[in-house]
Amino acid sequence: MQDNGDDPHKQRARKCHNRKEYDLISRRLWQSRVEIYSGQNPCRLLLVQGRLRKETYTPMPETMIALRKTKRARGAELQEIPIPEIKPNEVLIKVQASSLCGTDVHIYEWDGWAQSRVKNIPYTVGHETTGIVVKKGSMVSRVEDGAVVSVETHIPCMHCKQCMTGQMHICHNLKILGVDTDGAFAEYLAVPEIVLWKNDTSIPPEYLSIQEPLGNAVHATLIEPVHGKSVAILGDGPIGLFSVGVARASGATQIFLTGIEPFRLNIGKQMGADRIINVAKEDAVQIIKDATGGIGADVVIEMSGVASAMQNGIAMLRRGGRYCFFGIFKENLVPTPLNDIIFNGGRFYGINGRLMMDTWFTVSNLLSSGRLDVRPVVTHKMPLANFEEAFEMMIESPKKVGKIVFFPDAAAMTNGNHP
Ligand SMILES: NC(=O)c1ccc[n+]([C@@H]2O[C@H](COP(=O)([O-])OP(=O)(O)OC[C@H]3O[C@@H](n4cnc5c(N)ncnc54)[C@H](O)[C@@H]3O)[C@@H](O)[C@H]2O)c1
Ligand SMILES: [Zn+2]
Ligand SMILES: [Zn+2]
Repeated sequence: MQDNGDDPHKQRARKCHNRKEYDLISRRLWQSRVEIYSGQNPCRLLLVQGRLRKETYTPMPETMIALRKTKRARGAELQEIPIPEIKPNEVLIKVQASSLCGTDVHIYEWDGWAQSRVKNIPYTVGHETTGIVVKKGSMVSRVEDGAVVSVETHIPCMHCKQCMTGQMHICHNLKILGVDTDGAFAEYLAVPEIVLWKNDTSIPPEYLSIQEPLGNAVHATLIEPVHGKSVAILGDGPIGLFSVGVARASGATQIFLTGIEPFRLNIGKQMGADRIINVAKEDAVQIIKDATGGIGADVVIEMSGVASAMQNGIAMLRRGGRYCFFGIFKENLVPTPLNDIIFNGGRFYGINGRLMMDTWFTVSNLLSSGRLDVRPVVTHKMPLANFEEAFEMMIESPKKVGKIVFFPDAAAMTNGNHP
């Protein structure tokens, strides 16, 4: 474009009193989109479809607050560290909300699993998250700046046999966000494009952040259809509670939930369980057999990681039924009634993570359609600064908590906790 003094866009550009901005806009006026940053009075000038728009602009800080595991011992601490650099295939996300998971609690407590699993310390914890893309590497094409995203926490290598055959979630060289890499309990997070999920922005951040564990529940519950089936879900943790809702939304006709925490079992009722069973007081195998005409449940999903629950689960499964091993046991070797498994003649699945990205489509559709209401499970929202209180609530027993969601920016918390 010629430097024509009568050009209306140029006249409007002159209203921006910064000389550097004016020069830049003169040089780049032919572009469809121009961004100009002035130090003193931050503003962003956008030339969009021939019209010039001025927007205020908050410059990117150089450091951020992050919750870090700094010692090979109990605890974690908030530190001010540089904002992560991104590689050409990565994006930088400004975190809006990140939820607290049992895995984070293991790492906080520094139990046997964490001691043998976590290699690189210091590092940033957390993996269930949602935020806004604020910067993208040169190779990124699937999202634009400003996209609201969540992330799959299984980071695949993209070149092993599983990655090349539709099984990225069990990649041979799998890295787990917030365990093997710097995670999401921070103001900013860098992740590769392959793990991004573009969110429905009509859903509040606290429910977008829990899509990863909800995806666990979807993958485990729906690996085979449940419509018209009796389903026993063992374990009243957040993922068991999500599973109840998923089974209900997907047409299961008889849903049992077992657990030992009255507060959580009560949430299970709200999520759609027909019968909650407190195994500290009741015999789950007998109750489920009686309620299914003596044959047992069509589907059993083990989500407690407790040996006795797993063993009872095999006893309550009808012959030819479907069993999912999902809960993680403290020890790798757990006494298991293998002859019963053989004579059952059914299907026994090991469930790890979520299908990429099939499960995410299902999760998103269940939430967006309103068929699945996860509000009863998300019991607490907190500023990230209150992390100690949150971890202690997750550890204490009896539990008075379902899922806790952290907000790095306390001012962005939309409303209070529900009871
Ligand atoms: N396979 C995977 O990919 C994967 C991913 C995430 C989590 N997990 C595991 O899945 C399990 C569930 O996750 P979560 O976040 O809901 O964990 P959680 O630890 O909060 O839930 C476990 C629940 O089991 C209940 N419980 C204890 N004893 C029981 C018994 N005898 N019978 C029935 N319930 C009993 C507890 O009250 C607790 O609420 C955990 O073991 C977790 O480590 C597996
Ligand atoms: Zn998790
Ligand atoms: Zn791989």
